Order: sequence, then C-alpha cells, then structure tokens
Amino acid sequence: MLGASFLSYFKDKYDTVITLNRADCDLLNVAFVSQFLATARPDIIIHCAADTNLRRCENHPEQTLLLHCGLTHALSAYPAKFVYISSDSVKDPRNFYAKTKLLGEEIACLNNPQSVILRTNIYGFNSSSGASLAEWALKSFTAGEKITGYTDVEFNAIYTKQLVEVTYKIVNSAYVGHLDVGGNYAISKYEFLQRLCDKFGYDTSLVLSGQLPPPVGGVGRAKSTLLEIEPLKEHFDVVLSLETGLAMFKEEKNLYDKANKHK
Ligand SMILES: NC(=O)c1ccc[n+]([C@@H]2O[C@H](COP(=O)([O-])OP(=O)(O)OC[C@H]3O[C@@H](n4cnc5c(N)ncnc54)[C@H](OP(=O)(O)O)[C@@H]3O)[C@@H](O)[C@H]2O)c1
Repeated sequence: MLGASFLSYFKDKYDTVITLNRADCDLLNVAFVSQFLATARPDIIIHCAADTNLRRCENHPEQTLLLHCGLTHALSAYPAKFVYISSDSVKDPRNFYAKTKLLGEEIACLNNPQSVILRTNIYGFNSSSGASLAEWALKSFTAGEKITGYTDVEFNAIYTKQLVEVTYKIVNSAYVGHLDVGGNYAISKYEFLQRLCDKFGYDTSLVLSGQLPPPVGGVGRAKSTLLEIEPLKEHFDVVLSLETGLAMFKEEKNLYDKANKHK
C-alpha cells in the first residue's frame, strides 16, 4: 500500500527509483540484500516492508524478527540516507508486531545515526492483504454490510499520499532522528469509519458502534497511540487534516478503480 504510493510519487521526483520486494529475492536473506544495495548504490532508502498482519506476527515470531529487525539491519547498514517507516503502535507496544517494529527503530539508529524514523498510522488502498481498515470498510459498504467501529480506540491516521509528500520534504532536509507523522485530530475508529462512509456516499447507519474486545490469541492492542503533531508543524510547517486526506483518498481510489475496471 505505502510502497506503491512512494513509487508513484517519487518516480516523478528522481531520475532513478528502484524497488526491492519479494519478487527480487527472499528479503530475509541479508547477504542478498547487502549485495543488491552494493550494486544499486542508492542515495536514499525508504524501508516500507513489514508484516502488517498482527496475528501472523504473533504466530511466527522468528519470521517477524527476521523481517522487522534482520531486514532493517541489512538496509540500514548501507551508507545512504535511511528512512524507516515505523508505527504509532510502538508508543505502547502490546503485541509482537509493535515490539519488533520498535526494535527495528533501535537497529536503524544504531547502524546509521543519520536515520529518519517516521512513526505513523496510515489508511489507503492496494494493501498487501487487500483488507486494511479502509479497504475492508469500503468493501463492506459496497456490499451493503454493516460493520462495527470501536468508540474506545482513538488514532490520527493519515492518507498514504500525505505521508509520502511529507517524507519527500523530510528527505530533502537535514532532519535526522524520530518524528511523528499524524493528522491534526484525535478520532475514534468509529468516527473515522463514519467519515469514510459519508465521504464515499454510503449510508452512515452501516457503521455500528462497539468497543475493543479483549485480546484474542494473545494479540493485544493499545486504545490510544496518538501521534504528536507539534514537531511536524515546528520543523516542516506541515499540518495534515482528515478532510484533505479523505478527499485525496477518494480521488485516487476512484482513478485506480477506473483504471483497473477491466483487469
Ligand atoms: N497500514 C497501517 O495501518 C500502518 C500503520 C502504521 C505503520 N505502518 C507501516 O507502514 C509500512 C507499509 O505498510 P502498508 O500499510 O503499506 O502494508 P502492506 O500493504 O502490507 O505492505 C507491506 C509490504 O511488506 C511486504 N512484505 C511483508 N512481508 C514480507 C516478506 N517476508 N518479504 C518481503 N516482503 C514482505 C509486503 O509484500 P507482499 O505484498 O509481497 O506480501 C508488502 O509489500 C510498514 O512498515 C508498516 O509497518 C502501516
């Protein structure tokens, strides 16, 4: 989801943009990744790969460690500007996904003190699973199915392209270290789904209110991991609104659906 958005935006900004994904090789093979970088010789590395399926991370700890920490080690050991896409969940890590994303941050900073660590939460489309929060919601609305949004979980997720645009500013600055990249709102998942539903022209009664259930299968979740927005405003004069994010999302999603209608 995010990687596709980076590619689409950055290919118009730089002479050469190279992608690295599992089609190239097993990314858990550190030797391969190091060799790939030595050949590609990038100036900037943006690391978006992660397993965003929390249950799978919990059930496959070795694989998750290799991906979130081993791959991060291989990428951040290369002498380039390194951007690590982290998660708001590291603020209160209750599951193995969040814990290993936090470890990945540490590894990146130890390997490369010039690393930029962007803690964020995002919505968009084209995710690996096809079932990210917004995609799941839109599929349900299209089918006329009701969904439940949690009123006791709050976040300030931004649209993928909002993050991509900010990242472009950041990599073209001297900024190093951690930065939260979130929206200028604290909204419950219930309210977010209502706003999404409304934006895409569905009946908002399709969104029911509910509460976060107790952890299932050991996968705990924090109720609030709000991203701080002041540093982003202070360093980059950037304020990200939900209204703008949803409008960008709707426009890009419609274009994407149109282009892929007959595929
Ligand atoms: N989505 C969110 O709400 C959210 C919130 C906070 C932070 N983030 C962070 O944002 C970044 C991008 O996530 P996303 O939302 O764009 O999710 P996504 O669509 O699931 O993208 C993750 C990417 O990682 C790749 N990947 C996973 N396991 C791999 C493996 N073993 N070997 C090679 N590639 C592997 C996936 O490739 P395949 O498609 O081939 O599996 C996919 O391209 C991640 O670092 C994530 O931690 C996401």
